Amino acid sequence: MKTLYLTTSKEDIEQAAKIIREGGLVAFPTETVYGLGANAFDEEAVAKVYEAKGRPSDNPMIVHIARASDIGQLTRLLNPDIVELIDNFWPGPLTLVVKKRPEIPDRTTGGLDTVAVRLPESQAARDLINAACCPIAAPSANLSGSPSPTRAGDVAADMDGRIDAIIQGEDCRIGIESTVVDMTGDVPTILRPGIITAEAIGAAIGKAVKYDEFLTEGSRHVQLDPAAGVDEDDFAPKSPGMKYRHYAPKADMLIVEGERQKVKAEIERLKNLNRQYGNKVGVILFEERAFIEAAHDFFAQLRDLDGEGVDLILAGALSETDGVGFAVMNRMLKSAGYNIVRV
Ligand code: TXA
Ligand code: MG
Repeated sequence: MKTLYLTTSKEDIEQAAKIIREGGLVAFPTETVYGLGANAFDEEAVAKVYEAKGRPSDNPMIVHIARASDIGQLTRLLNPDIVELIDNFWPGPLTLVVKKRPEIPDRTTGGLDTVAVRLPESQAARDLINAACCPIAAPSANLSGSPSPTRAGDVAADMDGRIDAIIQGEDCRIGIESTVVDMTGDVPTILRPGIITAEAIGAAIGKAVKYDEFLTEGSRHVQLDPAAGVDEDDFAPKSPGMKYRHYAPKADMLIVEGERQKVKAEIERLKNLNRQYGNKVGVILFEERAFIEAAHDFFAQLRDLDGEGVDLILAGALSETDGVGFAVMNRMLKSAGYNIVRV
């Protein structure tokens, strides 16, 4: 398949929208990461998304809409908390898991009776959805398991020849995927952390919000300790995407965690040691507490280091007491396959 390269001009967006209407696949920019879009109500088109990504087909997709009122096409049940979050955070990087309308194909939601909905802030994304006249189901536009693409070139590297078109927009402002919050239970539950933190969500609705147990500090340590004998699948995470190995660079990766000066020294030591044995080493070390910058750069740095052909990536852990730091560490731990040393 020859992939068409488009801009964010009105004519090009029209052309992309036509491709979506006709059941094709279009990658497009959002403020978080690039998405790979298909008509959410077209089962065959959605099936092609899984194929293009090489993704397990039980993994549900986020459905993107262009205005808040369109959520009515996807769910019949809007409680006051959901409405409060829409008012506070849309358009923006917050995905709400709500009870789905029966009309939404099972393929879009991975057979769940819920649907994940997001109204992106990105103008190009909203123009595309508007022009297509349908909600757009879109996972991140990377091959399954690879780092999410935050630049048009990253999308091309993974998807050229596999999809109909790529809208080449700006680099993504945020750089990590949206926060996913399950609004179907008694207590709103964060299924995937992001730049909109649990604290911010709790403050908006005036009640406590919890993290899915799969994300908590406790489960992290269980996962880190193979001797504990707990299989990751046993956690049965509510967000099915969390159970697959994710965001992995081609290189091996090791996280160094501890007091700042010790981390720096250990990374230096490990770098030299590995180089002596002929390994090409790359380092990811953000300024202390520069969480927003870390979110913006993390996936791009993984891809750049892979481009340089490094064998090993050494990364400095971020503080997880900050909500955004926690969100970036969630990605970093997965990228490294939970390979971590403490100093
Ligand atoms: O920022 C983002 O959210 C980007 C851009 C393109 O909007 N999209 C994205 O999609 O990251 P994806 O497919 O890579 O991640 C969707 C996540 C997965 O972890 C999936 O399991 C979860 O959302 N999810 C989707 N529908 C769900 C549902 N009904 N219940 C629980 N989790 C769901
Ligand atoms: Mg993804």
